[in-house]
Parts: sequence; structure tokens; C-alpha cells
Amino acid sequence: MKRNGERITMLTAYDWTMARLLDQAGIDVLLVGDSLGMVIQGHSTTIPVTVGDMIYHGRMVVRGSQRAMVVVDLPFPHGQLGPRRTVAVAARIMKQTGCQAIKLEGGARQAETIAALVDAGIPVIAHVGLRPQSVHALGGYRVQRDRAKLQSDAQAAQQAGAFCVLMECVPANLAAEITRSLQVPTIGIGAGAGCDGQVLVTHDMLGLTVDRTPRFARRFAHLGNAVQQAASAYIAAVRDGSFPAEDESFE
Ligand code: KIV
Repeated sequence: MKRNGERITMLTAYDWTMARLLDQAGIDVLLVGDSLGMVIQGHSTTIPVTVGDMIYHGRMVVRGSQRAMVVVDLPFPHGQLGPRRTVAVAARIMKQTGCQAIKLEGGARQAETIAALVDAGIPVIAHVGLRPQSVHALGGYRVQRDRAKLQSDAQAAQQAGAFCVLMECVPANLAAEITRSLQVPTIGIGAGAGCDGQVLVTHDMLGLTVDRTPRFARRFAHLGNAVQQAASAYIAAVRDGSFPAEDESFE
């Protein structure tokens, strides 16, 4: 797709219903992101998410996807445990979910681990820029502006064999420059329009996370309001006796 100048579309999915809907809509890649810790489990960071959580959600998404590639995140700290232990966890996730690729956070410092994963036959996406699992080390959810570090992370990831580089919260001109310098595709989130593709957290994009939607996440729908309106209508109909009607009941 990069070679043909076609933009790649990626969205997160955490369950069968959503995976099926997004797959049928024509999405290219479904990401079982550890963002599930925030949007599904209600934590304030992705740090509490376990390998068991990723396998549980990954299996549902794989079951719901007919054509989209399914990528599963390595949760904290399993991408940072050195090549041998990371390969073991990634292999377990692939075996038990049936996903096609793994995403891990990091670039240059992860080069050896990325190479070991690729050697083991595990396709890898490297996540650089803002790495949410390192939110405390980075001092918060901030735009990452260190040009030299971003360039070397992206280059090192490609060199180590990653088939894609995901860039989060990177200035648009820098992300575009890195995209041009790489042979593998880039996927951006808060990284401007110059990347080869885009990803969003589906709950943000659908307007389900109204209280904490990041600036870069456009709301393509307002389902949070729609859910509350439907729930209010249901509550009123039950209370006033208009639900269930005769044709919603059995004789
Ligand atoms: O966990 C996730 O959903 C992600 C995206 C924000 C890229 O890593």
C-alpha cells in the first residue's frame, strides 16, 4: 500500500461485535491495543493490563475479523524484558489468539528484541514517539519533539526488521520526514497527515469517551449521547408500562 500511495487504515478493537463491524466496514488493520486498560477497564494508564487480558480480548477480535490484519499489543512490561522473554510472551499471544502481528513500544533500545521476534517469525510493529507504557518516565502524555531520537528509533526499528512503525504524538513535519525516509510504512496517531496510515482508539472516534478525548482524536460519531438517549428512552418506557408492547410479548 505504501508503494502504491494508498493510505492504511487502522482502528482499535477489543471484542467480537466491534471487530466484525469494523472489518465489514473495510478497515485494513484491527489493533487490540492495551488502551483497553483505559477505555474498557477504566484505569488511568495502560500499565495494569496483563498478558491474560490481551489474550482474552485478542481471541474475540480474531474471531470477528474476516479480512483485516489483527495486531495485538505486548502489555507492560513484557516488551521490555529482553529478547528471550519477550519472544516467549509474544509467541504465547500469537498462539493463543491467532493474531497476525505484535506491537511493542520502543525503537533503538528495542532493536535486539525486535530482531529476535522477527527471527522467530513474529511480525512486529514498533511504537515510537509517545509510548503510553512509559508515561511516568516521559513525564505525562506529551508531544515528543526530540528529532534525533525519533529518527534513530524509527530507523533502528526498520533495520531490526519491524514491518511498520507507529508514531504517536509527533510533530507533523517530523513524522512526514521520517515517513519519507523509511521503506516500511508508518501509521500515525497525533502525528499529522504525512504518515502512510492513521490509527485512532475506536471509542474516541465514536464519541464514547467524551470526558477524556485527546485533541488529535476526531469524533466521527457521537455514540455516547446516542447510548444515553436510548437508555433514557428504555427507562421511561419500562416505568410507564409502554415496554414491552403486545407484539413484543408471547400469547
Ligand atoms: O493501545 C493502543 O490502542 C495504541 C494506539 C493508541 C496506537 O497503542
